Amino acid sequence: CGIVGYIGKRDTAPLLLEGLQRLEYRGYDSAGIAVQSRTGGLRTAKAKGRVRELESRLPKRFAGTAGIAHTRWATHGVPSDANAHPHVDPTGKVAVVHNGIIDNAAALRAALEAEGVALASETDTEVLAHLIADAHQDQHTLEGAVQKALSRVEGTYGIAVLHADFPDRIVVARNGSPVVLGIGEREMFVASDVAALVSHTRQVVTLDDGEMATIKADDYRTYTTEGSRTSTTPETVEWAAESYDMGGHDTYMHKEIAEQADAVDRVLRGRIDDRFATVHLGGLNLDARAARGVRRVKILGCGSAYHAGMIGAQLIEELARMPADAEPASEFRYRNPVVDPDTLYLAVSQSGETYDTLAAVQELKRKGARVLGVVNVVGSAIARETDGGVYVHAGPEVCVVSTKCFTNTAVALGLLALHLGRIRDLSVADGKRIIAGLRRLPAQITEVLRNEAAIEKLAADYASARSMLFVGRVRGYPVAREASLKLKEVSYIHAEAYPASELKHGPLALIEPAVPTVAIMPDDDLLDKNSATLEEIKARQGSILAVAHQEQQKADHTIVVPRNEPELDPILLGIPLQLLAYHTALSLGRDIDKPRNLAKSVTVE
Ligand code: G6P
Repeated sequence: CGIVGYIGKRDTAPLLLEGLQRLEYRGYDSAGIAVQSRTGGLRTAKAKGRVRELESRLPKRFAGTAGIAHTRWATHGVPSDANAHPHVDPTGKVAVVHNGIIDNAAALRAALEAEGVALASETDTEVLAHLIADAHQDQHTLEGAVQKALSRVEGTYGIAVLHADFPDRIVVARNGSPVVLGIGEREMFVASDVAALVSHTRQVVTLDDGEMATIKADDYRTYTTEGSRTSTTPETVEWAAESYDMGGHDTYMHKEIAEQADAVDRVLRGRIDDRFATVHLGGLNLDARAARGVRRVKILGCGSAYHAGMIGAQLIEELARMPADAEPASEFRYRNPVVDPDTLYLAVSQSGETYDTLAAVQELKRKGARVLGVVNVVGSAIARETDGGVYVHAGPEVCVVSTKCFTNTAVALGLLALHLGRIRDLSVADGKRIIAGLRRLPAQITEVLRNEAAIEKLAADYASARSMLFVGRVRGYPVAREASLKLKEVSYIHAEAYPASELKHGPLALIEPAVPTVAIMPDDDLLDKNSATLEEIKARQGSILAVAHQEQQKADHTIVVPRNEPELDPILLGIPLQLLAYHTALSLGRDIDKPRNLAKSVTVE
């Protein structure tokens, strides 16, 4: 979900709507807005569906001096007008927008209902509006009322509150869900994400968990939920507003795929020392001695970040010769894992906010583990909670499905693998070979992307597939996993990834003309085995698209990808399949940047 708020001289509603558009990738099943009207009292408007739906429903005269708005990804209650935020109390004086989940909402709802309060929605957030209105009866300040209400709440939140009796301020609070203040000239912004602020100001203050703020047009102050003042200095956001625009492409996904050569260039820049074939990772915070003491690496992430972690684990195992594996952070945190002091844990996340990954980090830290972050968003929760790490430098990624950040994360993990290898037993010669391979990636990505027209033609055929299989062995397997996820997310065609070696143990039963297979088959020592798999598929009348380093006679089509070093090949092999997913979805008329039911960062459990 996304939050945005504004207080200042400008007309609030258009600013809030613009902010919501920029946050829409965080959730888009309903949206709403509340403003302090110039004549006193609050006005709200909400709509199920996209921000443009809300915009079309907004009364012509919806002027205000301060306001809050929200775009929602449903957790409690279906997407509907009533469940959209802001939520108001029965007197209409308090309006609240909220990200996160209130765990004791059911108990609080029951308590309110027992007092005779009629609740208008099924959401956990509405409870907050009632609690704040209630608390205001014996608290003179809005801040005091919010604090009192929050003291009854268990769970996670990022909230912004308007009160009709306090038209000069917005009160915000954070616990587990990001809240960022944007400091302007006689105007202030608040948002759950800098994306909503950067076109107005690049001076931001990020709240910590347990912190609150009062923003007024020309002033802000921060304090804890217990009321003690905290001190903060605004930071300057490094990403420029233009990087959030589509830059001439029809979708963010296409733009972000196209940006990959530059993005990879960025993640490598300034980090390689050619003389010794070593890597310098400034923020890692792991000295050579500590790194030599590491006996294994565990990589945690969700979705595409997890798949990038799978590639990273293989790279670490190959280059640094120590056991490494990746696991969904969401599973790891629930299975009471054995936390080992000799293991280095890596939390991988584009947003740095995914709740499951963050919770895994917190659990690991409680148990004394060493956790580093591999994160794209600078200063995000995971970046702040980890002991150090590697920034991925992909630039803002707006499309819900990850492309450039996936690639850059794999490259960042490659750098880390090389670093760990070179301070253990990777030779200078191998170090130089990998560095040369990393440096070739941007030009090779450009070469792969030049094939777009041919891939677009192929995609037209696959759009009618009932289901698709993606197979690969060892280095090809994580590529198959990610390609399958990409196709599912963006085209809604069912897809499944399998190790090619496992095909004969079950999934072969699925093969038929309407279920094509995409085979990832780099020219490594498993090529013959992969060719044998193609035979098995052909024998069952399955059609095959191979992604390989040379034409595959047994496949119906081959996408030829340039060869890099065997360890780094997985990074390139997946790129044409991003385009395949993209064009398949496009020919099916899908909403590419905002697939149904998904959100870019899932900040709830
Ligand atoms: C969501 C998105 C995925 C993403 C995953 C992890 O599920 O829809 O595209 O890969 O979260 O996000 P993160 O920000 O942690 O990389």
